[in-house]
Amino acid sequence: TVADLKGLKQGQLRLAVITTAKYIIPRLLGPFCQQYPGIDISLQVTNHEGILDRMIGNLDDLYIMSQVPDHLDINFEAFLENPLVVFAPAGHPLAKEKNIPIERLGEEPFIMREPGSGTRRAVQSLLDEHGVKVKVKLELGSNEAIKQAIVGGLGISVLSRHTLLTDAHEFSILDVQHFPIKRTWYIAYPAGKQLSIVARTYYEYLLEAARKIVEQEIAPLSIKVEQFPS
Ligand code: PGA
Repeated sequence: TVADLKGLKQGQLRLAVITTAKYIIPRLLGPFCQQYPGIDISLQVTNHEGILDRMIGNLDDLYIMSQVPDHLDINFEAFLENPLVVFAPAGHPLAKEKNIPIERLGEEPFIMREPGSGTRRAVQSLLDEHGVKVKVKLELGSNEAIKQAIVGGLGISVLSRHTLLTDAHEFSILDVQHFPIKRTWYIAYPAGKQLSIVARTYYEYLLEAARKIVEQEIAPLSIKVEQFPS
């Protein structure tokens, strides 16, 4: 486009991010938009499968996801850790225990994300690996709904640590063997796609913002809670 040729930082930026990233990406857009007031943004939030569908349909400029599929030709770069941890309501009896055997999860009512969720897949594969069966009491298609159900006493679950914000006092993070499940957020786009100047600008901005978060701890609460284990 003409804007690209002139190198002007204006135009549209279409982002699609997995549900766990919605706890940080919109916040990071604030300073970006101040720096580049000519850029308008549309942000879609969906689960892992939804991101893949959008990618295949070439609907967005950039994607944020935590599992890059091998069957698609994609350029990607890691920018932040996305650990999955065991959430229980504050004051749960297991909250005081250390090094809880993973089998113990099978005795608690469990709240599971919907099929198509990357979180669900990661949890399921860890449980399968250790031959643990959980009693799924409830299946919910939203991290936020799961958090409310946990506080409501319906069960425990495994969620991204980034979903903890100012409500952290309402939860206990259980010290269960083999947790956290280590995951990483990637910024990605189909290989062979020529990024617009606007998309390239955001790409660089995000990597830089992530670097500052890790180095200077100017993080939102969700990130401060988890220091990045190597
Ligand atoms: P999802 O995203 O569970 O909403 O798919 C999280 C992830 O893939 O890590």
